[in-house]
Amino acid sequence: MKKNRSSDAIKHLTDTQIKIGKVQIRAAPIMETLTGFMIAGFIYYAGILISQGEIGINNFFSFLAAMMLAYQPVRSLATVNMLIYQGAAAGQRVFKIIDREIKIKDDNKLPSLQIDKSNIKFDNVSFQYETGKERAIKNISIDIEGEKITALVGHSGAGKSTILNLIPRFYEPQGGKIYLDSQEINKVSLKSLRDKISLVSQDVILFDDSVENNIKYAKLDATEQEVKNACKLAAADEFIDKLPNKYKTLIGENAIRLSGGQKQRISIARAILKNSPIILLDEATSSLDADSEEKVQNAIFNLTKNRTTLVIAHRLSTINKADKIILMKDGNVLKHGTHSELLKNSKEYESLYKKQMMH
Ligand SMILES: Nc1ncnc2c1ncn2[C@@H]1O[C@H](COP(=O)(O)OP(=O)(O)OP(=O)(O)O)[C@@H](O)[C@H]1O
Ligand SMILES: [Mg+2]
Repeated sequence: MKKNRSSDAIKHLTDTQIKIGKVQIRAAPIMETLTGFMIAGFIYYAGILISQGEIGINNFFSFLAAMMLAYQPVRSLATVNMLIYQGAAAGQRVFKIIDREIKIKDDNKLPSLQIDKSNIKFDNVSFQYETGKERAIKNISIDIEGEKITALVGHSGAGKSTILNLIPRFYEPQGGKIYLDSQEINKVSLKSLRDKISLVSQDVILFDDSVENNIKYAKLDATEQEVKNACKLAAADEFIDKLPNKYKTLIGENAIRLSGGQKQRISIARAILKNSPIILLDEATSSLDADSEEKVQNAIFNLTKNRTTLVIAHRLSTINKADKIILMKDGNVLKHGTHSELLKNSKEYESLYKKQMMH
């Protein structure tokens, strides 16, 4: 990536400042000791001069007081340097992000997405990551029927998450087109597109804020009752009620105080509150205990009801609920159909099913 001037300038400043800073940190105690000796020596010498009557005691004390008063501001001047380099180091990190080129641009002039059945269509789509050696998605054409559950299955690296990420336009495909209810997704405004999509990913991102605010993030003007209803449907209400301050409990960054299943249910509650017609779900691979597993499954059931759902399935229970299963391998679609059709027609599916779904 092309480097930008602001971050280069900051980097240069920071490097120099760090060098100065290091010297300064080491020098500080030596300077303090020397200053101490100097003042002691000065008072001793002044004492001799006073006893010889060469300077008046009043003059000496005025000078001493002035020197003491000036000492602190002069010292602060020396530490300003340290503050500057601390700020520059922080700035360097921030500028790196600000300087990044925005590849997916929102154009307000584009029309809003009009939702009907929320059918999703991939037409000959190819995509390669910037750092990828080969295409993660190779000329894929699929139909995801509206208001139904479609499951994506396949070995690790088959391109399942990539398919999911292309729908809200986190990445732009190099070839082919993606349609949502016959509207090309890059011909409608990005906001209107993302408003219609809820993404429940494998790694739930939670903020260092209260449970309530973490859920409300999906709909900032939601009422307390709306948040509670969403949590009930997501089977999250019972554990939230047991937290010390219930909905107002602060959950640390990445919610270290919550279990995997609890985090997932918060993320599902968020999606329920958003009430979008399209659900993209990357099912967690980590195994949950039987009790949480059932609760998460119920929550997912409530979330996906009457909505277009595209789920990356790792569990048999999800596979069983799916109306259609798409089997992927190395960026291609191998086959699609129902669970029983695929079991009959595809050796690949049978072996994957036996290996992955049996746990
Ligand atoms: N950010 C990225 N940069 C470069 N290559 C990537 C990136 N993300 C994924 N890939 C590559 O693209 C291919 C498809 O990855 P993808 O994440 O879609 O697989 P997946 O089917 O979701 O796998 P898993 O089941 O392990 O989640 C892989 O070869 C992967 O190494
Ligand atoms: Mg994945």
